[in-house]
Amino acid sequence: MRTKMVAGNWKMNMTLQEGVALATELKDKITNPSCQVVIGTPFIHLATISQLLKGTPIQLAAENCADKEKGAFTGEVSAAMVASTGAQYCILGHSERRAYYNETTDILREKVLLALANGLKPIFCIGEIKEEREANIQNEVVKTQLEESLFNLSEQEFRNITLAYEPVWAIGTGLTATPQQAQEMHAYIRSVIAKKYGQETADDTTILYGGSCNEKNAAELFANPDVDGGLIGGASLVADKFLAIIAAR
Ligand code: 13P
Repeated sequence: MRTKMVAGNWKMNMTLQEGVALATELKDKITNPSCQVVIGTPFIHLATISQLLKGTPIQLAAENCADKEKGAFTGEVSAAMVASTGAQYCILGHSERRAYYNETTDILREKVLLALANGLKPIFCIGEIKEEREANIQNEVVKTQLEESLFNLSEQEFRNITLAYEPVWAIGTGLTATPQQAQEMHAYIRSVIAKKYGQETADDTTILYGGSCNEKNAAELFANPDVDGGLIGGASLVADKFLAIIAAR
């Protein structure tokens, strides 16, 4: 049985104090969740929030890591540094990083390898932009993203990957993929994994949906057999909304 998960991605929101307050509220209210709960926070929150979450069922993710191991890369944060905070996961390949920070599939391949080498589990984001959906090439786009950044991994390595299908046109726009669009894509992604790594690994891979997933539409999205949970942006910043999404899983 694959892991069901609801993960938050705070993006560039929350001062340290605000983040600690939100994490404290989540820690107090999430005692026996029905799925794996992860919160993805800015780097500067990780060390503090990791201490706060010790002994709780909530796990912690960074939102990025460097594509280099260590050294003279001013301002970068390595996978080893992320791991040293106690974080267990690392979100990689988010469309905002691909679009605004020019992260190519080659760069992402390096980041995935470094995350894995440091014991971090990548939450790897894939998804098409609006024009690609309109041209009906979303399947090819997502397949290429998988092939170019992940399919160099051994089956054993790949089993540490959580995928997040995030159609770019749905992120922060209030436009959500319909439950049918999400299910179709998730089933397609699983079939691509099955071809590469076999059915068992495909069946064990957690595939999250992300993109304007909120407390109102989560249950309908999660009801699909191949939608294993959500990667939540805006709604993860409000404890009650995030809790409602977890309850829907
Ligand atoms: P929103 O939930 O704000 O649309 O963001 C989704 C997302 O990008 C999560 O990584």
